[in-house]
Amino acid sequence: MTTSNQRGKGIAGGLTNYGDPDFALYLRRSFARSMGYSNDALKRPVVGIAHTPSGFNNCHRALPDLLEAVKRGVLMAGGLPLEFPTVSLGEVFLSPTSLKFRNLMAMDTEEMIRAQPMDAVVLLGGCDKTVPAQLMGAASAGKPAIQLVAGPMMTSRHNGERLGACTDCRRFWARYRAGELDGEQIEAIEGRLATTAGTCAVMGTASTMALITEALGMSLPGTAAIPAVHADRLRAGEATGAAAVALIDNPITPDRIITRAAVGNALRVLMAVGGSTNAVIHLTAIAGRLGIDMPLSWLNEISDTTPVLVNLKPVGSHYMEDLFAAGGLGAVLRELKDLLDLDCLTVTGGTLGQRLEGEAGYVDRDVVAAAGSPIEPQGGLVALFGSLAPGGAILKRSAADRSLFEREGRAVVFTSLDDLSARIDDPGLDVTPEDFLVLQNAGPKSPSGMPEAGYLPIPRKLASAGVKDMVRISDARMSGTAFGTVILHVTPEAHTGGPLGLVRDGDRIRLSVSSRRLDLLVEAAELERRRADLAAARPPEPDRRGYDALYQRSVLQADEGCDFDFLKG
Ligand code: FES
Ligand code: MG
Repeated sequence: MTTSNQRGKGIAGGLTNYGDPDFALYLRRSFARSMGYSNDALKRPVVGIAHTPSGFNNCHRALPDLLEAVKRGVLMAGGLPLEFPTVSLGEVFLSPTSLKFRNLMAMDTEEMIRAQPMDAVVLLGGCDKTVPAQLMGAASAGKPAIQLVAGPMMTSRHNGERLGACTDCRRFWARYRAGELDGEQIEAIEGRLATTAGTCAVMGTASTMALITEALGMSLPGTAAIPAVHADRLRAGEATGAAAVALIDNPITPDRIITRAAVGNALRVLMAVGGSTNAVIHLTAIAGRLGIDMPLSWLNEISDTTPVLVNLKPVGSHYMEDLFAAGGLGAVLRELKDLLDLDCLTVTGGTLGQRLEGEAGYVDRDVVAAAGSPIEPQGGLVALFGSLAPGGAILKRSAADRSLFEREGRAVVFTSLDDLSARIDDPGLDVTPEDFLVLQNAGPKSPSGMPEAGYLPIPRKLASAGVKDMVRISDARMSGTAFGTVILHVTPEAHTGGPLGLVRDGDRIRLSVSSRRLDLLVEAAELERRRADLAAARPPEPDRRGYDALYQRSVLQADEGCDFDFLKG
């Protein structure tokens, strides 16, 4: 009689690691064989590949090629690669906002990693919400995992000028709004902003998350910045497949890589690259899956002691392909060496310190500054606290106008996104460049689900008079590709009773970036009166069903990463 053992097992389980070793195994193998695999193939350890191409995700257009490369790497290293689909999130195609579906993708990823018989997983993602979703899911699933990002888009040209999604999208749109460009010109530009596969070409959320992931140790060294369409990205795919097999022999699970020290390293990198505000939410959520708290006070400590080194749009002048050519993340990490915890383990099985020992090479100092002569002495992001934001708010100070940092202003309030779009361009709007624009009810539990609406447009009458920046305050987010004096993620949000919802036209607000303060200068008794009026006038919550209901019930505030309360570690 042949026993299941004699019929062979994968090195660490694979398709054999499920149910009883007799009937369940026999049944599983017979179905696997219907896919044409030989017995030999089925004895190999299984590397699952979370594959996320979608007709609604332009950024992931090259993933099918990358998948082939990963599979080749897995096979060459003695494993069996089996891809599986999950939810895919194409940033610009999702309503009301992609953030709302990050947790859905994270749940899908976690459950499919856990439910299916794989020994390790390669996570193929790239667009803004996909990488955080995959890391959150993989962290919770607890199997060895490696992230491989899609890589950034290449830039394009318009009348000799370099264009890359999507800081330039905003720049040209602002000029169109101000009447400097006509319809025909903006249409020509529209066709040239995003011209290859890959993620947005600037230091937006996707680029920031790719770099943070490598800094965490969850992707192979040197892979974050390789352009999506570069042959090196395919070689990175092959290497990632092989590394996933190696992770099985010497099982290293995400909790051994994503430690508090590694999160600290990732925060350093977030600051040094002038990264996206959204990455604060995502890193908080990823760390939270493993029980690691990332308070905004920690962010301030790290920001105050980390120089900005990378000169990329929207803050600087270059694009991701330039960072790749300039030396990639390795060049940044080497400059930050004294500030990093070098003992952190990575998916290679070695430490960050070991990685950096072996690295050297050309660095373009126009793109990656030396630590001794940084672009800015302090990090790009700062958390503000005060009576208007008891749980904190975020300002990307590196993308803001410093002349607006210490001032008091009069509030011009928009109570919702609809109110904003109805009135912002009204020629009769009572607004001056010194006022603070306030948007309410755009936080995580609001009907809009915390969209990237915090980058309030400059009212048209001011924009056409040449006003480029104003203080803007909201509980919304901002695209990582945007810029301006935009205070975001005000917590608690207006919709759940936060003080932001109590602001009225004409109130005075004081901003002091140097003292990390954001205060509403209104008497407490007056605020209580408004709070009571608001509660009395609040319409009943609309009926919600399905994921929408789950989201509304369970989503946490921005300072907890907008994860679901029941998914935190
Ligand atoms: Fe996918 Fe910007 S739209 S990264
Ligand atoms: Mg974005």
